[in-house]
Amino acid sequence: MTLAERLAFLRGYLRDHKAVGSVTPSSGALSRAIAAYAGASQRRAIAELGAGTGPITRALLEAMPANGRLWAFEIAPTFVEHLRRTIDDPRLTVVPLSASEAPRVVREAGLPGFDAVVSAIPFSLLGREPTREMLERAAEAMVPGAPFVALQYHPTFLPPLLRERFGRIERRICLWNVPPGQLLRGFAP
Ligand SMILES: C[S@@+](CC[C@H](N)C(=O)[O-])C[C@H]1O[C@@H](n2cnc3c(N)ncnc32)[C@H](O)[C@@H]1O
Repeated sequence: MTLAERLAFLRGYLRDHKAVGSVTPSSGALSRAIAAYAGASQRRAIAELGAGTGPITRALLEAMPANGRLWAFEIAPTFVEHLRRTIDDPRLTVVPLSASEAPRVVREAGLPGFDAVVSAIPFSLLGREPTREMLERAAEAMVPGAPFVALQYHPTFLPPLLRERFGRIERRICLWNVPPGQLLRGFAP
């Protein structure tokens, strides 16, 4: 990860700390762990919610098959511009919209649903109702059985809300990041 990327991320955090939620992008090791937890190597249509400057985007693209496609949702215009300028991959569509537009985007793409959704949105800073709403929209955009993988730093906020929407959830800690990242995984009903 370049210094320019770190600085771009920090500037994004200073502009809107609540939406960005962390001062530094995910590490390469954490990003690869997320891609593996989502089974990216077997997925044809992945949605990434909150792509930022793109560390997880790059790890997903590295892992995905040649005929896979990735839709990266991001609301911060400077991050959208950064993603478009720095990642040149025909499998990637950068979506400059809120993650809650996932059902419309998947319909317009002519797909039955995403076969995995990966999120780094700082849900604990958004609050309970906006999080419920976003999980609802994500589930609506997924095919049954598709994994929903969320990176979270808050230890207790998301698990009960994920259980409400996805039932049983699994948890894994990735130590190769500062701070260590908590990965939560549920499956679309
Ligand atoms: C913690 S950062 C993660 C960035 C990057 N994925 C990483 O791991 O380094 C959260 C990102 O989610 C974006 N975000 C917040 N709310 C969003 C929403 N409703 N829809 C899409 N992106 C959102 C923020 O702008 C920010 O880029």
